[in-house]
Amino acid sequence: MDKRRLAVFVSGRGSNMQSIIDACKDGRINGEVVVVISDKENAFALTRAKKEGISSFCLDPSRFATKQEYEEKLAQAISEYAVDYLLLAGFMRVLSPVFINAVRIPILNIHPSLLPAFTGLHAQRQALEYGVRFSGCTVHFVDQGVDTGPIILQAVVPVYPDDTEESLSQRILQEEHQLYPQAVQLLCEGRIRCEGRKVIITKEEQKVE
Ligand code: GRF
Repeated sequence: MDKRRLAVFVSGRGSNMQSIIDACKDGRINGEVVVVISDKENAFALTRAKKEGISSFCLDPSRFATKQEYEEKLAQAISEYAVDYLLLAGFMRVLSPVFINAVRIPILNIHPSLLPAFTGLHAQRQALEYGVRFSGCTVHFVDQGVDTGPIILQAVVPVYPDDTEESLSQRILQEEHQLYPQAVQLLCEGRIRCEGRKVIITKEEQKVE
């Protein structure tokens, strides 16, 4: 099977992006990150991508008159690179339904909570404030809501009484770096399909080419 072409959208340090690049390089993902786009000029993720020799650049939304124009540019970039899948990895913008429909490729996101709990910003802080005993991370398809799309994979971590936002975030992040590459590999192998909200993962021998 041909390697799948992946785009990654980022805004910050890019550790999840790096875990995907690493998994592509050592064959755990049958894919290649062909373009990285940031909405922030100074995102460390761009430095990482350049070091890997991956096409990468910033598209700064403040340079576009409207969100629609901005998203048209994003969509154009994806089509120029003939991307199969779009991966959001710490991309701090909500993509509009128009964009999601226009690109017509699956879009994945990773969120640092056990969805549907604690959507939106500061999920780890929300978990601590709520007093849950367990939290974790979720890889899901992006739909028209914020962190509401069908769930692909989740990983659970304990929450300890003396946890800070930082310590819990670190524990969750370690799991993120395992979980996101696993989900991307399932996608690249054609082993994921949706039945309504439910995501069905087929066994390896039942791969859909
Ligand atoms: C991660 O916690 C991810 O779950 C969330 O944003 C953070 C991005 O971190 N969506 P990084 O840029 O991948 O290091």
